[in-house]
Amino acid sequence: MNPDASAQALASIEVDLAPVEVGQAITVMWRGKPIFIRHRTDKEIEEAKEVPMSELRDQDARNPNVDANAPATDANRTAEGKEPWLIMIGICTHLGCIPKGQAPGDNKGEYGGWFCPCHGSQYDTAGRIRKGPAPENLWIPPYEFTSDTKIKIG
Ligand code: FES
Repeated sequence: MNPDASAQALASIEVDLAPVEVGQAITVMWRGKPIFIRHRTDKEIEEAKEVPMSELRDQDARNPNVDANAPATDANRTAEGKEPWLIMIGICTHLGCIPKGQAPGDNKGEYGGWFCPCHGSQYDTAGRIRKGPAPENLWIPPYEFTSDTKIKIG
């Protein structure tokens, strides 16, 4: 059976990143899941890069767009040449709540990324789990840049 047109339409979405300024974040929906998109500042990128791998609880990049089991470096959490853009599935890997950190006034937690108030999981500016009960980094969805400022998710 072939999926009908509406199912195919939901399978992938295109997002224009051009209006999202440095330091801003947007959330879009893809297959019923919130997708967090943050246009990271230089400081956020530097902080993510400086973290030694040995400090990471989850060493896996959790990114289907890179090699399986690739380490969770900042580079492996983003697309090549597109470091400022962090694109992730916004679902806490503990019990599936939606972490805070997208809105300007949100508590972003001790690591400046995302904070899940349900049980206190804290993610850094590459979306990697740093503290609290969540076992895995926030997952990256399958996506690709289709132009300098557009991505296709799914
Ligand atoms: S669901 Fe996020 S900390 Fe429990």
